[in-house]
Amino acid sequence: AKAEIGVSGLATMGRNLARNLARHGHVVAVHNRSAQRMRDLVEHFSDEGTFIGAESAQEFVDALERPRRIVLMVPAGAATDAVIDEFVPLLEQGDVVIDAGNAHFLDTRRREKALSEKGLNFVGMGVSGGEEGALNGPSIMPGGPKEAYDALGPLLEDISAKVDGEPCCTHIGADGAGHFVKMVHNGIEYADMQLIAEAYDLLRKGLGMEPSAIADTFRQWNSGRLDSYLMEISSEVLDHVDADTGQPFVDVVADEAEQKGTGRWTVQGALELGVPVTGIGEAVFARSLSGHRDLREAARGLPGPAGVLEGAGAEGFAEDIEQALYASKIVAYAQGFNQIQAGAEEYDWTIDLGAVASIWRGGCIIRARFLDEITAAYRRDPALPTLLTDTSFSEALAGAQDAWRRVVAVAAQLAIPAPGFSTALAYYDALRASRLPAALIQGQRDFFGAHTYRRTDREGTFHTRWAEEGRPQEER
Ligand code: 6PG
Repeated sequence: AKAEIGVSGLATMGRNLARNLARHGHVVAVHNRSAQRMRDLVEHFSDEGTFIGAESAQEFVDALERPRRIVLMVPAGAATDAVIDEFVPLLEQGDVVIDAGNAHFLDTRRREKALSEKGLNFVGMGVSGGEEGALNGPSIMPGGPKEAYDALGPLLEDISAKVDGEPCCTHIGADGAGHFVKMVHNGIEYADMQLIAEAYDLLRKGLGMEPSAIADTFRQWNSGRLDSYLMEISSEVLDHVDADTGQPFVDVVADEAEQKGTGRWTVQGALELGVPVTGIGEAVFARSLSGHRDLREAARGLPGPAGVLEGAGAEGFAEDIEQALYASKIVAYAQGFNQIQAGAEEYDWTIDLGAVASIWRGGCIIRARFLDEITAAYRRDPALPTLLTDTSFSEALAGAQDAWRRVVAVAAQLAIPAPGFSTALAYYDALRASRLPAALIQGQRDFFGAHTYRRTDREGTFHTRWAEEGRPQEER
């Protein structure tokens, strides 16, 4: 018998995806550039299902039923191009090549175009959930031609996570749409992680709480509206004691956050599209700031206040932080969804935002109860300009805002950096404002560069002859 699907690239993610497929009763061809990895997989996991081990690309291709379905799980970039170039000459009309790595969506658009010209289907597929998700059910974000999804969808839905019986997998849109949505998922992941980290810092430095007590607080929050995977694992990390030193684990880890690049891509893309994803931006910059040991050492002696909240001042502050965290999280997600909306417009994708929120409810890193609310909001109004104005969120923000403002103010007073909380609040207030100081910026631009401005009282483009104190001249 031939294999229904093949996986090439058998590092942890690829191996786990192959095992997941086999465990669901699908015959899986497996291939790896160095064949030993393939042999190891077949040797160790054959009791989980049926694998057909292929020593070469040709053997791999021959082992597959037609149209062939080939999942590539190799590092993004040149390695992906190299594998595609190796397989393409061996494939036939209608075969489907699936890139399951964290590719940049512009690369995916390029590859899709090149392969479709050869009569092949190319699917750029976002997969979230890490190693564990790949094995037990990830959230899957496939892009590419609709026909390819028809041939592939049932298999993917079968191995994806399920929430309320619904698969966490849906066809996202043409060419790069799947990888674009996965990229924004990762951007939101950065923002979410940063906000939780700021909440931790505020509890620790603002209230003097120990990591294990903060873990308890997080567990409590995790049983309410903040229920999420990232909240849950944060409690576990905070509870963990380093075996070597007996210290809280979080105190022995170097405080320099690293990144592989998808958060940066999200911000770069948002800058191109002109979408203010300030929450994701601050999260990326906070990681890079943390890694600048040189700057941090140079600045360590600069003055600033110190101290913790005590007595009556401390009362209710933990609950305030919960409110601020929830409100900031709404803002970060609203910004991310706006980026998806803008990307869809720019690249001609039809993306169902409610469905995106729905397939993020399980399997992926940002899975959370709160995504149900986002789906509901987009079901109520698919053209919602921002999640902030949906009733369920506007009410939550209205309820949280006093606490949110207190937290940002206290953070500034106690010298606890809270860029995520602060930028979210600034965004909320800027969107609400009836007038923004952008008017002054237009004046400055017109003054020094005759860049012109528009007026509130009449149509047209104007320039003021600043040196002559003249009346505004209409430019044509
Ligand atoms: C996921 C994750 C994953 C990502 C890592 C690392 O959805 O499973 O987003 O795709 O690669 O979380 O990201 P950083 O190294 O950039 O933090």
